[in-house]
Amino acid sequence: MSVRRIGPKEVQPKEFAFNAENLEWAKKQLLKFPEGRQASAVIPLMWRAQEQHDGWLPEAAIRYVADMLGMDYIRAMEVATFYTMFLLQPVGKKAHIQVCGTTPCRLRGADALFDVCKHRIAHEPFEISADGNFSWEEVECLGACVNAPMALIWKDTYEDLTAESFEKLIDGFAAGKPPKPGPQVDRQFSAPQGGPTTLTDNSIYETAGAGADNDGAALTDNKAKKPTKGASERESPAPKNPKP
Ligand code: FES
Repeated sequence: MSVRRIGPKEVQPKEFAFNAENLEWAKKQLLKFPEGRQASAVIPLMWRAQEQHDGWLPEAAIRYVADMLGMDYIRAMEVATFYTMFLLQPVGKKAHIQVCGTTPCRLRGADALFDVCKHRIAHEPFEISADGNFSWEEVECLGACVNAPMALIWKDTYEDLTAESFEKLIDGFAAGKPPKPGPQVDRQFSAPQGGPTTLTDNSIYETAGAGADNDGAALTDNKAKKPTKGASERESPAPKNPKP
C-alpha cells in the first residue's frame, strides 16, 4: 500500500475555496448535525472538495474544510491521510484506478491487473500516464472480496475483473463511456454466474388468498423492492383506534 502523505509543495495550490454551488451544499450538510458536532461533516466536505479540485485533495482544501468546521488542522489531516478515498496528490484526469491487492483479490488474479496498470498507465503508482488521463495505486481490501479481483474508480467498484475486462474498462474511461459498475461477468451482485441456482422453484413463492398477485420468485431488483399485497397486509395491519 502507498505511503499516505500530502503531495509536494510544487503541486499544492496556495488557496482553495468551495465554488458557490458547493458552498451552498456544504452549508446544508452542516444543518444535519447538532450544534457543536459539525466536525462530523468532515468526510463529505473533503470528498466534495476533492471532486471540485480535479479528483485530488490539496492541503489548502484540508485546511479550508477544517476552518469551516472549527477543527484543528491536524484533526482534518488525520482523516485525509487515513482514508484511501482521499487522494493527496494529482491524479489522472479521466480515472485514478485503485486496485485491491489484498489476499482474496491476489488469489483471484489481481497480479494481472497490476501488470495492465504498469503497461497501460505508468510503471509506478501515482505516476500519471503520458496523456495525463490515468493513474493507479494499490489499496487494501475495499470490501468487495466476494467478487474478487476488483478495482475502485472514483465512487464505483468494478468487480470480477480479468486482464481483458480491465483493459476494456480503461478503454471505456478513455472514451468517456465507462462500463456499468459492479460485476463485469454475467451475475447479479454476488449471485452465481449465469443466474440463481437455488430457490428457483416458483411454486415455493405461491401463497393462498391475499398473495394471489404474487407471480413467483423475486429474481430481479425491481420485483424484490416491491412488497406484494399479501406481504403488506401481514406486515402493516390497520392501526386500531385507541380506547377512550
Ligand atoms: S480482498 Fe479485494 S476487495 Fe477484499
